[in-house]
Amino acid sequence: MAQDRIRLVAETGSTNADLKALAASGWPEGQWLRAERQTAGRGRLGRDWQSVTGNLHASTLIRLRPGDPLVTGLGLLAGIAVHDALAGLLPDAAIQLKWPNDVMVGQAKLAGMLLERDGDEVILGIGVNVAQAPRLLDRETIALADLPGGQGIDAARVLDALVPALDDWLARWRAEGTAALITAWLGRGHPVGTRLAVSTGADRPQHGRFLGLDAHGALILGLEDGTSEIIHSGDVGVLL
Ligand code: BTN
Repeated sequence: MAQDRIRLVAETGSTNADLKALAASGWPEGQWLRAERQTAGRGRLGRDWQSVTGNLHASTLIRLRPGDPLVTGLGLLAGIAVHDALAGLLPDAAIQLKWPNDVMVGQAKLAGMLLERDGDEVILGIGVNVAQAPRLLDRETIALADLPGGQGIDAARVLDALVPALDDWLARWRAEGTAALITAWLGRGHPVGTRLAVSTGADRPQHGRFLGLDAHGALILGLEDGTSEIIHSGDVGVLL
């Protein structure tokens, strides 16, 4: 089991913030920090991440090596690994990735990832709604406990599934490059042709169709006028 690779604390501000400090004092790649509660959990795009007891809040460190493939692939990699771990626990659930790495059930968010790079160190933080979905005004959320068969699953079990899944995908990324991730992501994400609303800043969201991912893992958005745009970062909504 992965227990010897996981440090568990009862409470902290943010496991990502802690790991950033620990990385400087030699925290090895592959070790995880998990907190039962976070008081200042951080999400993507400057958002807060509400950390409810019973949910998974954990971070790990990836130390970039000379010759590693494009680092932009790591966002996809994280989503794929979390998808595989959760789908392994609940094979009948309709779990799908939303670009870049949100883990969804229908329109509701089940898990999210925050990657923070500092030179050759990448902190990967993962939050999974295991026991409870926080109520948010601006988006739907769901927890594993809301899904058939999900009530008996606790955060420790999710992390036990996640540790080997991330190991496997990191090894594949290093051996096969970003192309392997793109194929894997497309098999787990919203299908090509899905209508999307993409926000990249203060402007109104752009509407278009998902055309796929480029070689860096960026989203290719097909616009109404027949042109396409490459989206490197932003917030994506799936339009029904
Ligand atoms: C998102 O979807 O916005 C990313 C959410 C990432 C949350 C996790 S919980 C563990 C780690 N520590 C943090 O402060 N954030 C990440």
